[in-house]
Amino acid sequence: MNELANQIAVVTGAGRGIGRAIALGLAVAGADVVCVSRTSENSEKVATEIRALGRKAWAIAVDVANGSAVTAAAEKILAEAGRVDILVNNAGVTRDGLLMRMSEADWDTVLDTNLKGAFLFTKAFARSFIKQRSGRIINVASVIGLIGNAGQCNYAASKAGLIGFTKSAARELASRGITVNAIAPGFIDTDMTSALSDELRAEVLKKIPLNCFGQPEDIAQAARFLAGPAGRYITGQVFVIDGGMVM
Ligand SMILES: NC(=O)c1ccc[n+]([C@@H]2O[C@H](COP(=O)([O-])OP(=O)(O)OC[C@H]3O[C@@H](n4cnc5c(N)ncnc54)[C@H](OP(=O)(O)O)[C@@H]3O)[C@@H](O)[C@H]2O)c1
Repeated sequence: MNELANQIAVVTGAGRGIGRAIALGLAVAGADVVCVSRTSENSEKVATEIRALGRKAWAIAVDVANGSAVTAAAEKILAEAGRVDILVNNAGVTRDGLLMRMSEADWDTVLDTNLKGAFLFTKAFARSFIKQRSGRIINVASVIGLIGNAGQCNYAASKAGLIGFTKSAARELASRGITVNAIAPGFIDTDMTSALSDELRAEVLKKIPLNCFGQPEDIAQAARFLAGPAGRYITGQVFVIDGGMVM
């Protein structure tokens, strides 16, 4: 079903992992997609995959934490694509370490990318969403933002912040026909989690009732649902997709 035909989506962190799956999933549902990542190599590759599906795709390399670069990128996107209907704030990083040893730089990098990046992108497109009196904003948070995790104070703070941001923006923008929701994935098989040791992976697996790690496509399905007609009456919510880990 092409429920997103004639819609234009912007997906940050679309170069790999969950963002790539979301970008491809929205394209399969009919959307044209702007793929944003840090490096143009990755976003170009995904844009090429989307064009092969018969959709339009653009690749933009920008650091989501850089305010002036985000403003310039958003202007370019609006000029080239004409409009934007769906924004997925997915770009994210980890810089794990125990609180006592965590550097200020690692704190700042994670907060700037995961939280400020979503604020900058949302602000950059808010005016056009308000003007057209429609828009779907989907923020990729994490279950760690709900339950915390030793060694991830920076990451947990960024994702808990993103959930608060989601609910506040949902309240601000609802009267203009714009929905804002968060998805909180559990443990998903991507580059981000492949770096973890086998011991840690085995420990995590024991805590997942469905007894397997999630795949990027599991998150992409939820994003497609929220972006499409089924998401019309849903705003300010957090969708936990984690195989039952934090129920
Ligand atoms: N994997 C999990 O288990 C899991 C669980 C919960 C939540 N999440 C969240 O899901 C999101 C995606 O995670 P993932 O596992 O797919 O990560 P990933 O495989 O490491 O991919 C991260 C993507 O974000 C982009 N990115 C990172 N920093 C950026 C920046 N400053 N500006 C622009 N783009 C940037 C990367 O660009 P390049 O390709 O150019 O490097 C890449 O495309 C993140 O927000 C993460 O916190 C993941």
